[in-house]
Amino acid sequence: MQIRRLFAVLLAAVIVLTLAACGTGSNTQDSSDNTKAQETTAAGTESTDSATASAETSEQPSSDISDTETAENKILVVYFSWSGHLDSMAHWVADETGGDLYRVTAKDPYLENYNQTADRAKQEQDNDVRPEIVVDITEEQMAQYDTVFFGFPVWWYDLQMSMWTFLENYDFSGKTIIPFFSHEGSSNGAGALPTIEKLAEEATVRSDDALSIRGGKVDGSENDVREWVKGLNY
Ligand SMILES: Cc1cc2nc3c(=O)[nH]c(=O)nc-3n(C[C@H](O)[C@H](O)[C@H](O)COP(=O)(O)O)c2cc1C
Repeated sequence: MQIRRLFAVLLAAVIVLTLAACGTGSNTQDSSDNTKAQETTAAGTESTDSATASAETSEQPSSDISDTETAENKILVVYFSWSGHLDSMAHWVADETGGDLYRVTAKDPYLENYNQTADRAKQEQDNDVRPEIVVDITEEQMAQYDTVFFGFPVWWYDLQMSMWTFLENYDFSGKTIIPFFSHEGSSNGAGALPTIEKLAEEATVRSDDALSIRGGKVDGSENDVREWVKGLNY
C-alpha cells in the first residue's frame, strides 16, 4: 500500500515537472514569434502609412543599409518621397531586386501643406539651393554598391532638390544608376534625367530604361513596377 502511495507521489511529481518544462518551452517560442510578428507589423505599417501619408514630416527615415561586402552585384534602392508614391514604388523595387532600401530626407523636412512645399521647392530651385539631407550612408558603404535604383518625384520640371544634394554627396564613378520616377504630367521627367546624368557624370545612367508612372496611377502599379525590374538586365 505504502509503495503504491509512494509511486503515486512520484508520478505526480514527474507530471508536474514535465508540465513546467513544456510551459517554459512554449513561452520562449511565443516571445520569439511575437518579436517576428511585431517586426512584420512594423514593416507593414510603415509601407501602408507611407502610401497614405501626405508628407515627409510624418515619416521616419527608413534604411536597411548593411556593411556586408559580397562579390555579387550589390544593389541600393534610394529614393525621395513627399506624398508617398515613390515610397511605394521603392519598396516594390527593393523587394524585387533584394537591394538595400534607403530613403533620402531633408534635415529641415518639407511641410505637409502643398502650397508651402511648392513655394519652398521653387525658391530652392531658383536659387540653386541644395537642401541639407540626413546622411547616414557612409562613403565606404556607398562604395560597395554597383547598381543604384534611383527614385524621385519630378518637382518643378526637374529632379527633386534633395536628390541633387544626394548625388553631389557621393562618388558614383563605376556605378550604374537606374532611374524611376513619378510625376503629374511631366511623363518624360522633363529636366530630371539630364540633371542626373550631369550630377553623376562618372556613372552609367540608364535614362532610356527609366520607369515613369503618373502619381495617380501608382497605387495600382505594383505589377508594372515588378515587371519593369524583371525586364532590366542589371
Ligand atoms: C513641389 C512639387 C512640384 C511638382 N512639380 C511637378 C512637375 O513639374 N511636373 C510634374 O509632372 N509633376 C510635378 N509634381 C507632382 C509630383 O511629381 C507627383 O505628385 C509625384 O507622384 C509625387 O511623388 P511622391 O508622392 O513620392 O512625393 C510636383 C509636386 C510637388 C509637391
